[in-house]
Amino acid sequence: MAMPPQGRQTSPTWLNGYGDIFKTHILGCPCVMISSPEAARVVLVSKAHLFKPTYPPSKEKMIGPEALFFHQGSYHSMLKKLVQASFLPSAIRGLVPEVEQIVLNFLPTWENTTINTLQEMKRYAFDVAMISAFGNKQDLEMKGIKHLYQCLEKGYNSMPLDLPGTPFHKAMKARKQLNETLRKLIQERRKLEKPEGGLLGVLLGAKNQKIDQLSDSQIADNIIGVIFAAHDTTASVLTWVLKYLHDNQDLLAAVTREQEGIQRKIIEGNRRLTWDDTRHMPLTTRVIQETLRRASILSFTFREAVQDVEFQGYYIPKGWKVLPLFRSIHHCADFFPQPEKFDPSRFEVPPRPNTFMPFGNGVHSCPGSELAKLEMLVLLHHLTTSYRWQVVGDEDGIQYGPFPVPKRGLPVKVTPRNIIKAAA
Ligand code: HEM
Repeated sequence: MAMPPQGRQTSPTWLNGYGDIFKTHILGCPCVMISSPEAARVVLVSKAHLFKPTYPPSKEKMIGPEALFFHQGSYHSMLKKLVQASFLPSAIRGLVPEVEQIVLNFLPTWENTTINTLQEMKRYAFDVAMISAFGNKQDLEMKGIKHLYQCLEKGYNSMPLDLPGTPFHKAMKARKQLNETLRKLIQERRKLEKPEGGLLGVLLGAKNQKIDQLSDSQIADNIIGVIFAAHDTTASVLTWVLKYLHDNQDLLAAVTREQEGIQRKIIEGNRRLTWDDTRHMPLTTRVIQETLRRASILSFTFREAVQDVEFQGYYIPKGWKVLPLFRSIHHCADFFPQPEKFDPSRFEVPPRPNTFMPFGNGVHSCPGSELAKLEMLVLLHHLTTSYRWQVVGDEDGIQYGPFPVPKRGLPVKVTPRNIIKAAA
């Protein structure tokens, strides 16, 4: 049991209480749960150096120990700058035609079929993650990388039992092969005078920015990590967007009107969708914000106290886990009245500071937030203007895979919109 530091009174009721900050155990491990915006800010931003990110060793092994998620301090901030540089609006605005092309290739394959929304969104978000990681260069290795990734993913959330035949074992094998494939790709691209292509290009070019050249394994771990972080998250949010729009037909009609306005301009200008178009989608953007709040797919994150910490008059011993609870904050009626209601209009005014953190906060906040929003907007532009979707079955509920998503991944029947119009 934790002992308070010398000369300090700690309230035992706090440690066991159920207020904004309380103690509990997860799998026998003492954890401090944080559901006040101010306290979450202390952990994630102002005293972030006292709380390091913490992951199970099996996940670290699978993603790669040199990926930025697992680090603090100078190594983390050096990598974070590079990763952020790849996903700044100025870096991704040029991706719009490629993202749009991926959407235009996917949508016809959904026509008049029942799709598993989550699985299709995963395929879409994976393809976007691949071009943002490697650029649009179609190396022969890309197909192999995709296949190995699928094997890796199957074992990622399984029991970490490294015995022949287990999903974990197969995933670790795929991880080794992925490493080899990436190493070859990295070495080929190192030979190019100007290493082009997405995040890989930026990581290879690091030495030009007065940073020591990154090793092959540092580059591989970070590429694998970013693709991991990018696709399941975005796919889960997109699945919820489709669910909420389906369940709120008036909202779907309003979003469609907004997107048709953009479509008209595109047709008049005889051009394609642009980054600037995506900046003029206020209602669709609010639908995405409200989805991020309501679904809160990353319900919380894990930190660990790196030393004994005195925290807002309380005491957290070294080694204890600290969990900022994003979902609790996003669902607190003080900040979001009627929190269970899906109401994008609440984002017509900005939320109170530190109450809306779908992409985290502070040093470890998400570098991919702009890309995630961009790919959702591009997909919604084409989906709402050209298609309608009907949920198949009446099974309401949530499944975890690992993020919360609608039951069975939300099976929907997709039909071209003009057919519906004609039938109406
Ligand atoms: C809607 C989709 C997404 C959501 C909800 C999301 C959410 C988050 C959150 C909450 C964190 C912070 C975790 C923490 O503090 O422990 C995070 C970190 C991260 N995300 Fe995202 N993310 C999304 C999409 C993406 C995309 C598209 C990328 C890549 C392009 C990405 C790359 C990362 C990386 C690399 C980190 C680790 C940053 C660090 O440790 O410094 N994410 N994300």
